[in-house]
Amino acid sequence: MNPASTVLPGHPFLAYRQGALALEDVNLSELADMHGTPLFVYSKAAMLAALAAYQRGFAGRRAHICYAMKANSTLAVLQVFAQAGCGFDIVSGGELQRVLAAGGDPSRTLFSGVGKTPAEMRQALAAGIGCFNVESEPELELLSQVAMGMGLRAPVSIRVNPNIDAGTHPYISTGLKGNKFGIAHERVLQTYQRAAALPGLRVVGIDCHIGSQITQEAPYLDAMDRMLDLVQTIEAAGIPIEHIDFGGGLGIDYNGDQPPAADRLWGRLLERVDARGFGQRKLMIEPGRSLVGNAGVCLTEVLYLKPGEQKNFCIVDAAMNDLPRPAMYQAFHQIVPLQHADAAAAAGLRWEVVGPVCESGDWLGHDRALAIRPGERLAVLSAGAYCMSMASNYNTRNRAAEVLVDGDRHHLIRQRETVLDQIRQERLPDSTPASDAR
Ligand code: LLP
Repeated sequence: MNPASTVLPGHPFLAYRQGALALEDVNLSELADMHGTPLFVYSKAAMLAALAAYQRGFAGRRAHICYAMKANSTLAVLQVFAQAGCGFDIVSGGELQRVLAAGGDPSRTLFSGVGKTPAEMRQALAAGIGCFNVESEPELELLSQVAMGMGLRAPVSIRVNPNIDAGTHPYISTGLKGNKFGIAHERVLQTYQRAAALPGLRVVGIDCHIGSQITQEAPYLDAMDRMLDLVQTIEAAGIPIEHIDFGGGLGIDYNGDQPPAADRLWGRLLERVDARGFGQRKLMIEPGRSLVGNAGVCLTEVLYLKPGEQKNFCIVDAAMNDLPRPAMYQAFHQIVPLQHADAAAAAGLRWEVVGPVCESGDWLGHDRALAIRPGERLAVLSAGAYCMSMASNYNTRNRAAEVLVDGDRHHLIRQRETVLDQIRQERLPDSTPASDAR
């Protein structure tokens, strides 16, 4: 990097160059001029670098990385991972259609989720899905019937709830007894025995997923021990387990968080796997956030500044419908200007950064020191995961456009939505469709 370039800590592909924020080699203000705001921008190199950390961790192993696409399901993002050899973790028939549309391989795709419908089961079986991660006993029975009706045997893994506290936000913690996910540890063996006896099923694996934005190693190590204990018990009962799927959940640095690097974490986990004699077993993982979260930013423009007695409001054109994580989980996202301000100016007022939606919960950042004027633009960082994929049309706001950056090239990968797109499926009950009016 040249001396006029300052990389943002924790964001190696994001740097101020001569004072202007760039993602890889693309100036973000120019993208905002071209496509308007709010605008999501993703770095292909950042996604591939995050993937490479996992690939290093699994070097020489039989391992499949199945990107948990709920984190960001935009087709061009899926294509990056499909072309890099990833499979996918899906939770709906809609996600399966996206995998196929992006050129992903259904046989390397896992179908997770507690509420699969018979239609989704049929769709996945017809596509040749790699494995169903089954989350309840009734789901096993239904899947067996559906598969038999198609003359098939469905490949299944049972999602175990290992009763481990992942130490994360309660809404994104999934591996505790009180959660709706998976089969309780104590019932796992009998559930496997039932699965092995059902004619429409073929047991292939075991899986777990203990939560999201996990920043410590300990819960992972404990969960691995529990999983390996279970594999031993199930195999001792005569049911072979071809693969162990360890889910996703590794956290990212939003605000000085220090999750273990993926290669380091897997180094530690594989030591356990080897020590227990499972080193040759096929491994699967389902990372989402850690592959895309810090690869994306959301660009937004300052509409109004409203200094007040108690608080100063900075009203921007992105809102909770674009970036739902602060409103939903009190999540922190760094917010930085697209034009670097000098230190003296930055020491000015502190701002509540809020959107135009008519809710007090519509905030993007509290108490942020920013040197800004109306018309200036900001970047909300760590916006690659669980932002666009959770975006809504609340307040009849159009969902944002998206751009993928690759070196000095950039591609518009999603056009900004229009109100016509939003109202297309709606009908007024008392109006005669134009084609019927005579
Ligand atoms: N596998 C399963 C079965 C999952 O339920 C999830 C995420 C993942 C994999 C991927 O987890 P990750 O590696 O992304 O942590 N909207 C929340 C996060 C919800 C996570 C849901 N499940 C947020 O914005 O923090």
